[in-house]
Amino acid sequence: MEKLTGNKKIKTAVFISGTGSNLKNLIRFSKKNNSPVSIDLIISSSHLAKGLNYANQFNIKKKVFNFKNRKNAEKKIFLYLKKNRISFICLAGFMKILSSSFIKKFNYKIINIHPSLLPKYKGLNTHERAIKNKDKFTGCTVHYVTARLDSGKVILQKKIKIGAKDNANSLAKKVLKLEHKLYPAAIMKIFY
Ligand code: GRF
Repeated sequence: MEKLTGNKKIKTAVFISGTGSNLKNLIRFSKKNNSPVSIDLIISSSHLAKGLNYANQFNIKKKVFNFKNRKNAEKKIFLYLKKNRISFICLAGFMKILSSSFIKKFNYKIINIHPSLLPKYKGLNTHERAIKNKDKFTGCTVHYVTARLDSGKVILQKKIKIGAKDNANSLAKKVLKLEHKLYPAAIMKIFY
């Protein structure tokens, strides 16, 4: 990824499907003077995504795309991103897999956050799996997006201990807190 030149922030879209706590955190981060990105667009795969409320709260454009036909959705999203001069995408709880052609067309400038220490536990139910396997540590990962689920190059990872009393729920809470530190740190690492 090119490093920052000048003081113009990189126009960024955040893709969500659900709660959007990472989205909210990224919006807050983007408002800091030293943030390399501005969040200019929220894209959701569902009308029901709670995170869409942050569009009104922070006065950011939002749009929902129906993924019943992925090719169609991606075509429309690509045009919409271009129209809004977006050059960077952060996936944050986005539950759809983007095609390799979309990723390529967007010049691979797409990153994602995942609640495990990748390459461990790609996909869903990461905390349940860590508990079941009696792992001593878990954490989260920010990585570049490829068409293979949770498999792109790792940008940054943060690790925490799993306590004897932890369950999937308590871990999810702890890791989410960690995610809110990691995502901005990863963005700083990319652009500075
Ligand atoms: C996070 O745990 C993220 O790592 C995963 O989905 C969850 C989204 O949470 N990809 P939120 O919608 O940002 O609160």
